[in-house]
Amino acid sequence: MSTKDLLLQKIESRTARVGVIGMGYVGLPLAVEFAKAGFHVIGYDISDRVVKLINGGRSHIADVPASAVAALVKEGKLEATTDAARLSEVDAVSIAVPTPLAKTRDPDMSYVLAATQTVARTARPGQVICLESTTYPGTTRETLLPAMEARGLVVGRDVFLAFSPERVDPGNLVYSTKNTPKVVGGITADCGEVASALYGACIDRVVLVSSPEAAELTKLLENTFRSVNIALVNEMAIVCDKLGVDVWEVIDAAATKPFGFMRFTPGPGIGGHCIPLDPHYLAWKMRTLNYKTRFIDLAGEINSEMPAFVVDKVADALNDERKSVNGSRVLVIGVAYKRDIDDIRESPALDVIRLLEDRGADVAYHDPFVRSFQEESIRHESVPLTNDELDRSDAVVIVTDHTNIDYQMLVDRAPLVIDTRNATARTSPGRARIVSLSSSNSPAMVESMAPVAAGKGVA
Ligand SMILES: NC(=O)c1ccc[n+]([C@@H]2O[C@H](COP(=O)([O-])OP(=O)(O)OC[C@H]3O[C@@H](n4cnc5c(N)ncnc54)[C@H](O)[C@@H]3O)[C@@H](O)[C@H]2O)c1
Repeated sequence: MSTKDLLLQKIESRTARVGVIGMGYVGLPLAVEFAKAGFHVIGYDISDRVVKLINGGRSHIADVPASAVAALVKEGKLEATTDAARLSEVDAVSIAVPTPLAKTRDPDMSYVLAATQTVARTARPGQVICLESTTYPGTTRETLLPAMEARGLVVGRDVFLAFSPERVDPGNLVYSTKNTPKVVGGITADCGEVASALYGACIDRVVLVSSPEAAELTKLLENTFRSVNIALVNEMAIVCDKLGVDVWEVIDAAATKPFGFMRFTPGPGIGGHCIPLDPHYLAWKMRTLNYKTRFIDLAGEINSEMPAFVVDKVADALNDERKSVNGSRVLVIGVAYKRDIDDIRESPALDVIRLLEDRGADVAYHDPFVRSFQEESIRHESVPLTNDELDRSDAVVIVTDHTNIDYQMLVDRAPLVIDTRNATARTSPGRARIVSLSSSNSPAMVESMAPVAAGKGVA
């Protein structure tokens, strides 16, 4: 039997052992899905803390219930290790290590390169190896392929190599690792076939593309699409602010069009490990080919200017109250980069807090998901959301619209609320003056636009 057929048989019978490198936001949910599908999974991570947590039946990832980890560990289906040599035991390896940006905004490939060396050291005939980390097109072929060849392994015959981007959306209650279609692109047709069989064993739908480059670029298109469209609505918020039009009303009206429009919402900027970073991997790659990706650069520029736009809104709103930012007590609501998650990586809230503090504000924050965080050696701790806290605030800035915040309480007790997410839309009027991301309080403009609105409606 050929190496490929033997491996396919092991996958089919679930006797294949699976290794996952990097047990973070992507790796742990994936490892759990493989284990639930019946494979024995070994999670390899350089973090002792992460390995101890998993082996202790606990979960450090909010979307993965500790009960699921505990049950799989107890059953003997899932284990974690810091011992890279154990990867020689596995038949399949998925690599899910970080791909951040360097200070220069160029890709920081150090984690992928380290993981590649680890895999290469333990690689043996009969393994399928899949890179999942988001990266520039060409990475799998330029990095992993030569590492395998240097070990004397023929890719497509002895080992099978593919790229398969992770699409996990933390906090999404509908789409998880299991029911989000998985794109796979192999170095050879056999590589694609084996990798598809592996993922097909635990994920509802696999979409096979013709090459790793197509799979790598698919992920970058998805995240660039989001970055560009978020930038477009962020710019629309600025446009609406200048025109005195309510951007939320405009978006709601545009979204009534049943075709050709997709709803995106503006906000204080973008965060997380993906949208602010991934498009720069493509921009970097294209710079090496003497091509400038203008959409990516412009979207990055607009999105990264949003925290300053928000802070200007706070300053103007305080000014209306005859107050300065300097010396004002500002309570920031939500520091996670998006609703109902605990991840603060690249969160625009960190920029908003820093910019307010630079202007002399006394900033506190409340986030039910983020009890504390450290930024440039300064430790911040979430304050309880109490009437006293709201009474002593000069302004409250809603940066992240977590669902378990009592927005009515904010509106009832705080004197001033700057709402960057339209979170107060369903509250009744209270004490607070509410300032939206785009203000619609320019009487002249509203008046001049009234006949148009009356005549044409919103269709
Ligand atoms: N977080 C997301 O929502 C998301 C979504 C889709 C894709 N991705 C991509 O997936 C990849 C992983 O992201 P993440 O959010 O899971 O990162 P993460 O920081 O949550 O987890 C990465 C893990 O890898 C470990 N690690 C680092 N170097 C290692 C090495 N050499 N060997 C073994 N373990 C190592 C770290 O200790 C950590 O536990 C990135 O490329 C990211 O862009 C992330």
